Amino acid sequence: MIAESVQEALNKQINRELYSAYLYLSMSAYFESTSYRGMAKWMRTQALEEREHAMKIFDHVISRGGKISLMPIEAPRQVWSTPLEVFEEVHKHEQKVTNWIYDLMDLAIREKDHATANMVRWFVDEQVEEEASASDIVDRLKMIGEEKGLLLMLDAQLAERACYCRSSDRPWGRTPAEDSLPALPSPLRLSVRLLIRTASEASFASYPDVFHQLLSHIVLPPFSA
Ligand SMILES: [Fe+2]
Ligand SMILES: [Fe+2]
Repeated sequence: MIAESVQEALNKQINRELYSAYLYLSMSAYFESTSYRGMAKWMRTQALEEREHAMKIFDHVISRGGKISLMPIEAPRQVWSTPLEVFEEVHKHEQKVTNWIYDLMDLAIREKDHATANMVRWFVDEQVEEEASASDIVDRLKMIGEEKGLLLMLDAQLAERACYCRSSDRPWGRTPAEDSLPALPSPLRLSVRLLIRTASEASFASYPDVFHQLLSHIVLPPFSA
């Protein structure tokens, strides 16, 4: 059973997550049109993750016997003037999402809905990373300024972002290593997740043994305890 108020708020959050996916997809299209292919890929990955967020809430509502009400998704903006302007908007948007997640948590606690509060707690952690990665890119873009060469270097770096959003075998877009992270203390969990996320596909392909050994050293002890 799920309270009407919680169900309504969760449906609203599904719509917001899907809007986020739409917004980042629009930013990806904008970057494709300006030839910043790395930033376009970063945004495409971000859009996939937002879709996974929506599905995580979608699955929660269904498993609690609630009703899904899908609403129209607002059309996102299509044009920006600089990469900095785009990433500043990402940062602002993620701050807004954090506030919505906090409101959801307050509501779940008020309604004594522990299952929803538990699910929302995952989003609380996720938002710390979302805000940190956007603000880190904003800072780097501010330092780079008009230097085209440095901008292209950053673009190449952002192209290396790996995506684990394979909803068919991992509904929440997590690797097995990431799945075991809740067993770790919070600051360590955050750094390991950042390590996994920022590791490039190329690194995995070239040094799979090193990577897997490293991850099993960090992740497995608390997992098997
Ligand atoms: Fe999200
Ligand atoms: Fe997000």
